[in-house]
Amino acid sequence: MSFSSSERKEAAALALGWFRRNARPLPWREGRDPYKILVSEFMLQQTRVETALPYFTRWVKRYPDLASLARADEADVEKLWEGLGYYSRCRSLLAAARAMTQEGLDKPPPSTEALLRYPGIGPYTAGAVASIAYNLPVPAVDGNVERVTSRLLNLTEPAGSPALKRLASKSVLAMMPKGEACDFNQALMELGALVCLPKLPACLECPWGALCLARKLGVQTQRPLTRPRPVVEKISAWGALFFYEDFCLLRRRPREGLWSGLWEVPWFPREGEDALAEVGAWARAVGIECLSCRELGVARFSFTRYRVTAWVAACETALSPVFREKTSLGEWGLHTPDALERVTLPAPSRKFLALLK
Ligand code: ADE
Repeated sequence: MSFSSSERKEAAALALGWFRRNARPLPWREGRDPYKILVSEFMLQQTRVETALPYFTRWVKRYPDLASLARADEADVEKLWEGLGYYSRCRSLLAAARAMTQEGLDKPPPSTEALLRYPGIGPYTAGAVASIAYNLPVPAVDGNVERVTSRLLNLTEPAGSPALKRLASKSVLAMMPKGEACDFNQALMELGALVCLPKLPACLECPWGALCLARKLGVQTQRPLTRPRPVVEKISAWGALFFYEDFCLLRRRPREGLWSGLWEVPWFPREGEDALAEVGAWARAVGIECLSCRELGVARFSFTRYRVTAWVAACETALSPVFREKTSLGEWGLHTPDALERVTLPAPSRKFLALLK
């Protein structure tokens, strides 16, 4: 880091002043309740503030404190999270609340080391809660702060690398004014969200002006240095709404990975055009006999680097003993129309079901 001590002080003072004039009035900033700050930080991992806001409001109304969350059912918590994605976050938040409550705590503990022991809490979340809720002098470096810091100091380590995380954390701590951890960390987050944008940074509105080393060199949009983007791959799929009497058959996703542990409408690769033949063959392999197959339309969705076009079919079925065994093992489930409304589903499954209407 090539800032002198006086430049560090100046940059910090400018950021703090700017934050006090420009901070958005976000609900978790009112009253500095450590529990609400914990909830907001779980929601804001991978999610933008505008998207998280309505979820946050509903959440704290339903679970106003750690104890009420600790008593909640996992299925209810998942339902309240539906649409925010990355569902392991809400299960971890619930598990963390239960563990804290079991240890006799009524709010998250005031230390990064203690916070790091709970599910779903990594260095960023621990730093954010410790600094924002308790004003403890620790860094909280997420993607926004990494970008802001790498531009201000022209850091050239690759985006997302442990080396950049380490250097950015060290730099944030070196700049942090005494007693200002809460506002200083949030100032960096807010600069990243409102001014120091990834593609089009609003440098003319930036409180740092000519202090920013990347801007001085005209390389601000090239910091942090990005690795080549993964190639987008297009996939054709069938989405299959299997009905048995009044029930819709959903399969359970694995506990790990994408949409972990959620029920979903099955979907699988589409190779030809004959729905009854292809969907029928796939179904037979899991013990479902397709009696009829009606195409409903097309749904599109994306995950990681994949863009999926799914042709959705509704099928009347008969079920074999093999399939019955899969339901008793929890791999598949029969859901009534009512239960379908209540259960937490990945966004693509909702798109498939919407084609029924
Ligand atoms: N992103 C994560 N935490 C945040 C916070 N407290 N304020 C603004 N953006 C954030």
